[in-house]
Amino acid sequence: MNAAGTSQTRVFVAGHRGMVGSALVRKLSAAGHVDLLLRRRDQLDLTRQSDVEHFFAEQKIDQVYLAAATVGGILANDQYPADFIRDNLQIQVNVLEAARQAGVDRLLLLGSSCIYPRNAPQPMTEESLLTGVLELTNEPYAVAKIAGIKMCESYRRQYGCDFRSIMPTNLYGPNDNFDLETSHVLPALLRRFHDATADNASEVVVWGSGKPRREFLHVDDMADACLVLIGMNQQEFWDEVPVRNSQVNVGTGEDIAIADLAAMIARIVGFQGEIRFDPSKPDGTPRKLLDVSRIHSMGWKARIGLHEGIEQTYQWMLDSMDDVTVNQEKPET
Ligand SMILES: NC(=O)c1ccc[n+]([C@@H]2O[C@H](COP(=O)([O-])OP(=O)(O)OC[C@H]3O[C@@H](n4cnc5c(N)ncnc54)[C@H](OP(=O)(O)O)[C@@H]3O)[C@@H](O)[C@H]2O)c1
Repeated sequence: MNAAGTSQTRVFVAGHRGMVGSALVRKLSAAGHVDLLLRRRDQLDLTRQSDVEHFFAEQKIDQVYLAAATVGGILANDQYPADFIRDNLQIQVNVLEAARQAGVDRLLLLGSSCIYPRNAPQPMTEESLLTGVLELTNEPYAVAKIAGIKMCESYRRQYGCDFRSIMPTNLYGPNDNFDLETSHVLPALLRRFHDATADNASEVVVWGSGKPRREFLHVDDMADACLVLIGMNQQEFWDEVPVRNSQVNVGTGEDIAIADLAAMIARIVGFQGEIRFDPSKPDGTPRKLLDVSRIHSMGWKARIGLHEGIEQTYQWMLDSMDDVTVNQEKPET
């Protein structure tokens, strides 16, 4: 029996129209036995404390996935740093406090790998949190996410709340952003190779040397990891994580050079021309890979291979080309 007196678990997915939130809704709907509570931002603005408290008090929620956030690329992070830190802190403070007051059973907060120091040893373990200087371009956003982790830990310590947090690597998949100005490397390459093929272009120029290595996780694997983590009972979960730095990294544990990624995407899209690299453009950090030993020890591993995942995402992009919104910003990773 749940808090509302029915046999189904009442689950609130905050941010259900986003890339991660929509993947969670697909996964939860397929799993069944849940009563999904979904609210668009115009129905419930999570930065408004009294509205959030009222919603939680009324709805008898059992579980919360907090996938609502103000997110964006380098440009947006640079132009609107105050919005990034304020909105994300407000959303987290309001949702966690309302969840505590309403006696929610379990909450999962979504963070990002940008919480780790810019020069953290690779692969990045959960223990590297707060051991060094953050990447400056998205520091306000990262600080808000770190505050979210520390809120989960503090609410558990002081109030006994079962609030957990999960830190995904770069995500891709359905509902990704394919806008050339604002998208991340994987969807941007898909779009550029697609356009070049359509235009019969002889070459595609890729920024940088092609040598940096990055990790990519399909968003459906990410949603699967979220369900596994929230599904673990209290003892199972808290026996596996320390009191401090209790966040759980989620990724594939494998990285790929940008040059190899570009070649894979060119093959999938059917681009016949040449791929040229432009080393005069910045490479960024040489390697960015999460250590995923903790989630592996909990029995979860990524299942969707990169080639298969990109093929599926490309198909999604083609299917939605006519009506896809290609001008939304996505989080910096
Ligand atoms: N995408 C990635 O590569 C990636 C990687 C690592 C971590 N993450 C994390 O995953 C989470 C979700 O990211 P995403 O890529 O799914 O972002 P997204 O596609 O931009 O979705 C964010 C969602 O949050 C909702 N939202 C924002 N502000 C809100 C407010 N004030 N009230 C209610 N709803 C609000 C948005 O609602 P509207 O649709 O109404 O605007 C949207 O549905 C973030 O915490 C992000 O840090 C993402």
